[in-house]
Amino acid sequence: MQSFPVSDTLKRLPEQFFAKLVKKVQALSSEGHDVINLGQGNPDLPTPNHIVEELKTAADNPVYHKYSPFTGHAFLKEAVATFYKREYDVDIYPESEVAILFGAKTGLVEISQCLLNAGDTALLPDPGYPDYMSGIAMANANSVFMPLLEKNNFLPNYQQLNQADLEAAKLLFLNYPNNPTAGVANKEFFDETIEVAKQNEICVVHDFAYGAIGFDGKKPQSFMQSAGAKDIGVEMYTLSKTYNMAGWRVGFAVGNTSVIKSLNLIQDHLYVSLFGAVQQAAEKALLGDQTAVDELVATYESRRNVFVEKLQEIGWNVQAPRGTFFAWLPVPEGYTSEEFADLLLEKAHVVVAPGNGFGEAGEGFVRAGLLADEDRLAEAAARIGKLGIF
Ligand SMILES: Cc1ncc(COP(=O)(O)O)c(C=O)c1O
Repeated sequence: MQSFPVSDTLKRLPEQFFAKLVKKVQALSSEGHDVINLGQGNPDLPTPNHIVEELKTAADNPVYHKYSPFTGHAFLKEAVATFYKREYDVDIYPESEVAILFGAKTGLVEISQCLLNAGDTALLPDPGYPDYMSGIAMANANSVFMPLLEKNNFLPNYQQLNQADLEAAKLLFLNYPNNPTAGVANKEFFDETIEVAKQNEICVVHDFAYGAIGFDGKKPQSFMQSAGAKDIGVEMYTLSKTYNMAGWRVGFAVGNTSVIKSLNLIQDHLYVSLFGAVQQAAEKALLGDQTAVDELVATYESRRNVFVEKLQEIGWNVQAPRGTFFAWLPVPEGYTSEEFADLLLEKAHVVVAPGNGFGEAGEGFVRAGLLADEDRLAEAAARIGKLGIF
């Protein structure tokens, strides 16, 4: 059979670092080992029932069996605006300032194709969510990494970036609460970002995937809450984490009208919008009872407390994450991130993600997801403790 070579665009795509890890985990599980997998970012709890029920009812509506409007149903865009007003006291105009997305991942990849030409520069966090790079690579643009260091609370330091890179950059990706470092941003940081972006005419893309998940009573700050945010950028939100809807593929971008228009334009050519019944269920999620969200955040917080306490008990000096469902854990001396993750996998059957998989500055850390119940998290800590490393 003929084997057709892939295009140059596909050749540029970065290697999927974590595919190797997934294979190792599968091999151990298929040998019958009890593996505790904290290596991935897939929410473990179900979608709240009232959202699932809404989908079931909506699936019967023949209107939704036809093509959806290309840019999504007006009712969902209006729900997004109501959600932003309720949660962040931010005014969003549904028709011109909302783009409906097949999950945030789609928008985060598309945006590079919307705004970057070959040879252009994009700034992105290191460590960071790998898909920013995929879009930049497809656009044949250059990635310039902004190190997220512990001493800077895992925020980029704009003063320490190369001035020429800032001047060249067209796009800047940020993500707070942050995957993988669990760092959080405050309003001052976003205000400073807007200033830097305006000076250098850079479009800011704030990935707010973990927007709902803040601990110790602190609600994560939206980029849109800073004055001028809409002039210079967009925020991408997903229902995947807030409502445990990762499999449903629904998210949205809000903000700058020209960027929203470009996202809608590229989507016009790639898709017809989401299944109408999914849009109706998404409206229900955003506007319906939010008790499940509060309960979810409380669940993650209580898992965090157990996990951090148990890790500290075994002598591992870890910081408690302030948001997201990840813990960013320092690797003990004498190991690389990958060696340490391999050791935990092979000797304790506990899976964590090596930090270098998220970028060079992730070396020296591993990421553990709080995506198992408290007993399993305690068990993972106990197994690590038995290795006698700390
Ligand atoms: C930082 C970050 N952004 C975006 C996404 C993707 O979200 P979605 O499910 O909406 O595509 C994830 C998912 O893991 C994530 O961690």
